[in-house]
Amino acid sequence: MSIMRVKSVEQSIRDAEAPEFRLRRVLRAVDLLGIGIGAIIGTGIFVLTGVAAATDAGPGIAISFVFSGIACGLAALCYAEFASVVPVAGSAYTFSYASMGEFLAWIIGWDLMLEFILGASTVSVGWSQYFVEALKAAGLGLPAILTAAPGAGGVINLPAAVIALLLTVVLVVGIRLSASVTNAVVAIKLAVVLFFIIFGAFFIKTANWSPFIPPHQPPTPGAAASVLQEPLVNAIFGQTGSFGLSGLVAGAALVFFAYIGFDIVASGAEETRKPQRDMPIGILGSLAICSVLYVLVSLVMTGIVKYDRLDTAAPMATAFQAIGAPWAVGLVSLGAIAGLTTVILILMLGQARVGFAMSRDGLLPVWFAKVHPRFRTPYRITLITGVVVALIASLTPIDVLAEMTNIGTLFAFVLVSIGVLVLRRTRPDLPRAFQVPWVPVVPILAAAACLYLMLNLEGWTWVRFGVWMLIGLIVYFAYSKNRSRLAKAEAVGQASE
Ligand code: ALA
Repeated sequence: MSIMRVKSVEQSIRDAEAPEFRLRRVLRAVDLLGIGIGAIIGTGIFVLTGVAAATDAGPGIAISFVFSGIACGLAALCYAEFASVVPVAGSAYTFSYASMGEFLAWIIGWDLMLEFILGASTVSVGWSQYFVEALKAAGLGLPAILTAAPGAGGVINLPAAVIALLLTVVLVVGIRLSASVTNAVVAIKLAVVLFFIIFGAFFIKTANWSPFIPPHQPPTPGAAASVLQEPLVNAIFGQTGSFGLSGLVAGAALVFFAYIGFDIVASGAEETRKPQRDMPIGILGSLAICSVLYVLVSLVMTGIVKYDRLDTAAPMATAFQAIGAPWAVGLVSLGAIAGLTTVILILMLGQARVGFAMSRDGLLPVWFAKVHPRFRTPYRITLITGVVVALIASLTPIDVLAEMTNIGTLFAFVLVSIGVLVLRRTRPDLPRAFQVPWVPVVPILAAAACLYLMLNLEGWTWVRFGVWMLIGLIVYFAYSKNRSRLAKAEAVGQASE
């Protein structure tokens, strides 16, 4: 039996048509843009911008956003082509099954769990931080031990767990509800971000932007920094410390988190009415809108407050506190809470969809893929996802989660970019409603840019990533390889020959 077996594009589409696994086709281009923006703007801009400015890049974080945005734009082109060729649930996982074979599809599916489960956990923690801020503004303090993970000054992050579980219920009830809730909240989120940019612009002190790219600083003497706490590329070249040009790239690798989500639009292909036309609009459109907003937010944020004071739990609130506008703190916090809610929802939806596709293919137990008789949602995988997210979010610090999410997602982007090239060669005949321009240059650049960002994540992140992928290999060879639907079909074919 070959682990390189490919599931044909036609087969993927046929499987999705089987009644017991069928999802409803309800989404339009505007819903996809909503899902995209709803998934993209989140903890990255509301929380991590501050951390990255304070510890890596200073006001130059705006440049980091441009770097990261370019890498995502290149990968987005590849995603859009893939999604328009293989319009079924499961995103990068399905695409790779159709192009690079089962083994790589497994790797990518396993890897995507990092993006979705840890991404949802990261955002739940960000949500909790703004929630605590909003409560504080209303004069209600929660004890620190109940609002932060061990390692982040607490014992358990309860608000993070509660929000993840509540949203799980919403997802089980159905995508229709999730899509309409999403659209309403996306509007609020955009309004808050625009408000931050426009109102905040009046309080910019240009002195705060100087130096725009803080000069490189060696590590603080006496700080027991392990080499594994350095970005891998710095550790390799023996360069340590923060800021400077290398800080800009390290910042880009961290705020990459802010762009995650455009790829999730692709997971909704099976529920989209006209995937060939609407997928590229959804993916590229949402990415473009968010990139512009991010650069503006980071300029305003670092213009209001000196960058070294931005390493806080809720830096947008910090900025407005600094200008003495408590009502604006409340407003931004409420908007952030609403906005982050949709991100968690969409990331968990992404995991449910990929898990669903993998179970339907027999790579995970098919039991997970059962669709609820009334709600028509993959409720089992959704419930499991929700519980796991709640557990992880309540016990892990946000920076660890964000880095792990990034490495997983970047790796998926690398594989998708290569996948586009492979599919062009192996199936040139397939109709492509959207085509990546300048092949092979764009896919190669996309893969290289994402790989470079991966190398700028810290050594520990690589160690954790390696362990996770190793577990994935064990599961594949011990379980999935022999139980996949393709393996069974192969066995039947051989027996009848
Ligand atoms: N891009 C999403 C966020 O920043 C995942 O929260």
